[in-house]
Amino acid sequence: MRIVLGVGGGIAAYKAALLLRLFTEAGHDVTVVPTEASLRFVGVATWEALSGHPVTTTVFDAVETVNHVRLGHEADLVVVAPATADLLAKAATGQAPDLLTNTLLMARGPVVFAPAMHTEMWAHPATQANVALLRSRGAVVMEPGVGRLTGPDSGPGRLREPEEIFAAALAAARQEPAAASETGPAGPLAGRTVVISAGGTREPLDPVRFLGNRSSGKQGAALAETALAAGAQVRFVAAHMDVPPPPGAETTRVETALELRDAMLKAADGADVVIMSAAVADFRPAAASDTKIKKRDDGQDPVIELVRNPDILRELVVRRDEQRRADGALPDSGPLIVGFAAETGDAGSDVLAYGRHKLDRKGCDLLVLNRVGRNLVFGQDSTEVMFLTPGMDPAAPVPTLAGTKAEIAAGIIGRVAAALR
Ligand code: CTP
Repeated sequence: MRIVLGVGGGIAAYKAALLLRLFTEAGHDVTVVPTEASLRFVGVATWEALSGHPVTTTVFDAVETVNHVRLGHEADLVVVAPATADLLAKAATGQAPDLLTNTLLMARGPVVFAPAMHTEMWAHPATQANVALLRSRGAVVMEPGVGRLTGPDSGPGRLREPEEIFAAALAAARQEPAAASETGPAGPLAGRTVVISAGGTREPLDPVRFLGNRSSGKQGAALAETALAAGAQVRFVAAHMDVPPPPGAETTRVETALELRDAMLKAADGADVVIMSAAVADFRPAAASDTKIKKRDDGQDPVIELVRNPDILRELVVRRDEQRRADGALPDSGPLIVGFAAETGDAGSDVLAYGRHKLDRKGCDLLVLNRVGRNLVFGQDSTEVMFLTPGMDPAAPVPTLAGTKAEIAAGIIGRVAAALR
């Protein structure tokens, strides 16, 4: 792909150098277009050396190539990182005082902004209106990370990690996995095997009925697409889904929780990452009738006895930890395990408290916490998640990410890639 990497004027500009490296190592052709202000943080020499292309901030260099039109026109993808409040405002209002803003006006392919600024600037209604306007026009504006900012303050406003921006950019470009293999193994998950479960299990009551759930499998499919785009080999274990499994993944179809368990234990063997995004039925009918359950003339209605299904996520963690102990292996050998938690909260406890408790109980390395309700999350294209990890400071703000399922997938895969690194 031809990528334009726009760099705005902020301290986090240095992280764009790592992002540039991820793109070039994945075989992409990157032209860096910094703003004048950003050169106070990272200079032209760095960008020229890392990208292998001349770098300028102005429309008056290389005029014979009509640079200010050509760059945006030819780009398959434009990524702006860090995107300052000023750059977002200029992009939203179509101003074009320099080469980067001209390029943004010319771009016809996907555009991804990774904002970085102080919390107050991000929360300001002007910035939020600009972000909403850019999103309404189809641009991807990532939610900033939450954490320590330039000064002693912390909050939302941090530039997201290079791996997360990389994954979001590839998801936006919907780069086919075939393209990654053409350029050889590349991307932050190159050479890694990622196992993903997705969809909702169905527990048969009789040959025509089942106990099921509302999971659409969209989040699992988006995770698989993003992992493939990041260079991973993907083993995809699909329970019932409303969307097709992504091409390029090695898919195993399952129906029940017990089938899902067997498939996951097998697939997790030798894997680097396991992501349990499937909605697993906690209970199954104690016995499924071989014949259709009929209404009875004596008026007696059936009572369905349920038994508990195994906790697959917990089992995966226990098995990995046992192997670590048995082999005397390094503490981080075996797969990195990611779980999901769907919580509604109730009178007794809030969503976050249930999430923290679930992380302890499951023992996984990352828990992606979703607030659910009848109209929230299931089947919806947009959602909000919190990322919980063991040993987090309970007083610190919890990293939160709102966006489409593709953006959430990019956030998860980016975190996974960073943890493996
Ligand atoms: N999960 C699993 N096996 C089960 C149930 C859940 O592997 N039998 C996994 C899910 O795939 C998810 C995580 O565990 O990654 C949490 O699922 P959730 O339904 O939120 O939690 P439960 O374990 O069912 O806990 P509870 O019903 O008490 O909320």
